[in-house]
Amino acid sequence: MNKRQKSYLAASLAMAFLAVSVGAVAQQSAPAKPETLIKWRQSAFQVIGWNCGHIKQVLDGVYNKEEVVKSANAIAAISNLGLGSLFTTGTEQGKGWHETNAKPELFKEGSKVGEYAGNFVKEANELAKVSNSGDVAAVKSQFSKLTATCKSCHDDFRRKDS
Ligand code: HEC
Repeated sequence: MNKRQKSYLAASLAMAFLAVSVGAVAQQSAPAKPETLIKWRQSAFQVIGWNCGHIKQVLDGVYNKEEVVKSANAIAAISNLGLGSLFTTGTEQGKGWHETNAKPELFKEGSKVGEYAGNFVKEANELAKVSNSGDVAAVKSQFSKLTATCKSCHDDFRRKDS
């Protein structure tokens, strides 16, 4: 590579980098619309539901450690993303894939949603850990602990008709 080629390469790399960082800034400065946030949270919960269903199916049928590990890891990964950031002000009402089923109480200051979310994350991470052991009884018991956290939050903060 001669000198001219080298400086051309350096310049195009700099341009490419600039384009990437400008893109990143643009993304930051345009917060997601409420409708998008509601879609994301409904989608995240759908994927969580899918994987809980899958674990239940395996627990009720022929046990397969790898299948449980995969789904438990997926649930834990999503729980660790911070689903709370999808429940910002302005998303109390509105339509994502469908009308939100979050109750207005969820958004009130001092609501127990943070506590419920914390328990959910804790039990999801624990299930991911326990699933690696392949100990079916331990996985069953941890799975019940996890699904109990879904129920407590839904009882208080999700509309029944969903
Ligand atoms: C901290 C509270 C909380 C926890 C914990 C929680 N959920 Fe939910 N879930 C909600 C709320 C609120 C909605 C309604 C979201 C909306 O419509 O905007 C919801 C919606 C859902 C939906 C419907 C998504 C859709 O299509 O609209 C499913 C499925 C679901 N949750 C499954 C689960 C499962 C399974 C767990 C536990 C492994 C769980 N959730 C834990 C609060 C919670």
